[in-house]
Amino acid sequence: MALRKRREMNLPDSVEKVLLGKDTIAARVEELAAQISADYADADDLILVGVLKGSFIFLADLARHLSVRHYVDFIALSSYNRGTVNGAVRLIMDTRMSVTGRHVLVVEDILDTGHTLHYLLRAFHARKPASLRSCVLLSKPERREIDVPVDFVGFEVPDEFVVGYGLDFAQEYRNLPFIGVLRDEVVQARISG
Ligand code: IMP
Ligand code: MG
Repeated sequence: MALRKRREMNLPDSVEKVLLGKDTIAARVEELAAQISADYADADDLILVGVLKGSFIFLADLARHLSVRHYVDFIALSSYNRGTVNGAVRLIMDTRMSVTGRHVLVVEDILDTGHTLHYLLRAFHARKPASLRSCVLLSKPERREIDVPVDFVGFEVPDEFVVGYGLDFAQEYRNLPFIGVLRDEVVQARISG
């Protein structure tokens, strides 16, 4: 992309391309919220469980568009590492509220191999919620290693490492207002250095 255009768009040099722009994301989040509000119209005890840290921006925007009464809580898992043993997920912070007897909606940033969501759904299922569903902003179907049910999906994206709108690379770039792909040099430099 031409330098002038990049500057106009306020695109950091480390970003190769924008996959989903700010307005595209906002419109889709609003649609998801309308769908969720309709589905849970009669559920009086809904709790959104955000998976930290990646979901924090998505959850904040989603919650503000929900028209149904709901609680918000969070959990944290061991951080994502490509190349770790498949399915090796660890809970490092649990919800403060009990989910038993409540309608639980797990909110995740991205569904990749599926191991994280699979683990979470199993763990929450054991706590006997009134219902258990999941909502992810992004899904990379090509990367799936385990079949996991997902009820609400924002966008399907190709098999590329994405950052922004909550998603990080080595804890950076979460604050980008769009979802984009980093330049290969940026990723390689970090991995080998
Ligand atoms: P899964 O267990 O392979 O489905 O991985 C899910 C987690 O990996 C997500 O919650 C993210 O934290 C992380 N992840 C997967 N792909 C990406 C990506 O492209 N960018 C940033 N984080 C990612
Ligand atoms: Mg995550």
